[in-house]
Amino acid sequence: MARVHIPDENRHIVDVQEIVDFLKPFGIEFENWDVEGRIGSEATNEEILEAYAPEIERLKSTHGFVTADVINVNPDTPGLDEMLAKFDKEHLHTEDEVRFTVRGSGVFHINPEDKGPVFSITVESGDLISVPKGTHHWFNLCGDKTIRCIRLFEDMSGWTPHYMDEATHEGYAPVCMGPSYLEGDQGGEFESPVKL
Ligand SMILES: [Fe+2]
Repeated sequence: MARVHIPDENRHIVDVQEIVDFLKPFGIEFENWDVEGRIGSEATNEEILEAYAPEIERLKSTHGFVTADVINVNPDTPGLDEMLAKFDKEHLHTEDEVRFTVRGSGVFHINPEDKGPVFSITVESGDLISVPKGTHHWFNLCGDKTIRCIRLFEDMSGWTPHYMDEATHEGYAPVCMGPSYLEGDQGGEFESPVKL
């Protein structure tokens, strides 16, 4: 389940509806889909796209997307560090960045510029996030360096990152908020950060 963290305010949001309400003014859409039993652990990319076809079709029609694919990243992925280095620096895209996490986890940081302080959204299985085009953001994997996501595109070229001259990402640790935070486990708020 997703969690929002606003470091400058030492504030955490864990309730789904509160997360939706917090993100809305920034134009960020968030949904948590029921994933229980939808796909098997060995599902292929094609089976994943088929299983989530109704949701994918809905997103295509609301955002103008024309295609969807599945990205499957783990520590054995060739060129993983080079791939991740493209997205762990503050950037924007010319189309919405929509990701549905099937497995694994990751953390998006958002810099809303003059609309508020930087905040992070840790996403896990079942979480859909839509970051509007033009929004300053960056992305890191969590400690297990594993994520499997459905991605939607208007145009593959629109997904090119455009970097900032004065980026803020170095001021924020790429931490994922782990489940122990939800359980109120003292001293166990965060999973180990991984600098990617
Ligand atoms: Fe991005």
